[in-house]
Amino acid sequence: GVIREYWFDVVNKTLAPDGVERITLSINGSIPGPTITADWGDTIVIHVTNSMQNNGTSIHWHGIRQVNSTAQDGVASITQCPVAPGDSITYTWKATQYGTTWYHSHFSLQAWNGVFGGIVIRGPASAPYDEDKGIVMLSDWFHQTTDQLYAQASSGGPPIANNGLINGLNVYGSGGSRFETQFASGDSYRLRLVNTAIDTMFKFSIDNHTLTVISADLVPIVPFDTTALNVGIGQRYDVIVKADQEPGNYWLRAIPQLTCSSNEMTLNITGIVTYDDLPVQDPVTAPWAYVDDCADPALGTLVPFVSLDAEAATTEQVMDVGLAIVNGFFKWTLNSNTFLSDWGEPTLAKVLTPSSVFTDEENIITLNQTNTWTYLVIESALGLEHPFHLHGHDFFILGQKPMVTFGDDSELNLSNPMRRDVAMIPASGYLAIAFQNDNPGVWLAHCHIGWHTSQGFALQLVEREADIPVASNMETIEDTCTAWNTYQDAVD
Ligand code: C2O
Repeated sequence: GVIREYWFDVVNKTLAPDGVERITLSINGSIPGPTITADWGDTIVIHVTNSMQNNGTSIHWHGIRQVNSTAQDGVASITQCPVAPGDSITYTWKATQYGTTWYHSHFSLQAWNGVFGGIVIRGPASAPYDEDKGIVMLSDWFHQTTDQLYAQASSGGPPIANNGLINGLNVYGSGGSRFETQFASGDSYRLRLVNTAIDTMFKFSIDNHTLTVISADLVPIVPFDTTALNVGIGQRYDVIVKADQEPGNYWLRAIPQLTCSSNEMTLNITGIVTYDDLPVQDPVTAPWAYVDDCADPALGTLVPFVSLDAEAATTEQVMDVGLAIVNGFFKWTLNSNTFLSDWGEPTLAKVLTPSSVFTDEENIITLNQTNTWTYLVIESALGLEHPFHLHGHDFFILGQKPMVTFGDDSELNLSNPMRRDVAMIPASGYLAIAFQNDNPGVWLAHCHIGWHTSQGFALQLVEREADIPVASNMETIEDTCTAWNTYQDAVD
């Protein structure tokens, strides 16, 4: 593999993705930020500078396993301190997987002010196509900042999005412009879908066209066909679309699923597919029939192309999702605890400093046995789906059922289960995931609804503490923490 180097400047900037100006935070002044493109096996080096005032940052490479590089995971309060204003950090990691993913800020609610972008790692595909159209990012969008909206989100309920974006574009009133793409009759195209929303499940479709789904997150699957595909927050799907319709214009749609999203039916999040260089016009095509829902495709539909079985658990933890109101503010609990960030001393620093003590708010599960299997079962009695994400692993989905109470392991499937890094916890149901303790590090697991992460819906895994290399990891921590704590002292 070769080395691919990028320079990211995180800046405040007034932008108008849908024609409405607002303050945004972005990478290099654009939303989305630059796409990282590499080949399987390459080494990626990203120099990140925080050019904002009064704001920390950290960039997380969503779904990248970070084998032996936990400190490069970019999670403020877990694997590093926030990068202080004016300070820089260099992240280095290896593309050990291939497919489609994204990066986003992992500091507070910053990602959803615009600090995100795509990652394409080229590798074998499980079905042929003529052209790679690259990343198609599906976002919800607000005309205020997430910081302005947080108080409401935490006391009144999640705010309604003003709009949504496709690759950073959409119309609003008479302003803005739509995402457009060209098809040549008879050719087939690969689209790399990413849901970057803070609180929206999108159903993706292209009028009159069938989607052949070839991968889910960073895992190639046995191809299957569908007309409409639920893309949960943080999830990715690569689809192949054949230009097999009458030449013309067709709507491409990201339809918010109201069952689990705080959005309105009227949000019209569309792009235009145009055939054979015809004039681009608003299409007159009709959407495929669909049912509003927030479920992942049924587990039998998602079958990994490379077959692997899970093994029996050595550690198994069943936990419940809870929602409490503390002093008028929503707090989510997992494992009975609400997760709280400690910006000034990240977990990894504590783990590497033997005398440290952890508090309940750090919500830690310690896994010390090498290469044994861990099962996490998350039960949710609430009638709302949650996109559950784990860092550092592609987990195996052993069960995902509309049953609030998990019985025992006989309910689980261990034979080539779907593997990915975000799966939906069903409404009034449970999600059972498994992984092998094969990646020493500190890994966050959380609901990828941005408000929920900030409201404490998270836990941490400290995996094989004794095998985490000390010197290389401490370097990242010391770099960021010295600058961050100096900045904090000056502010206080
Ligand atoms: Cu997409 Cu914890 O992240």
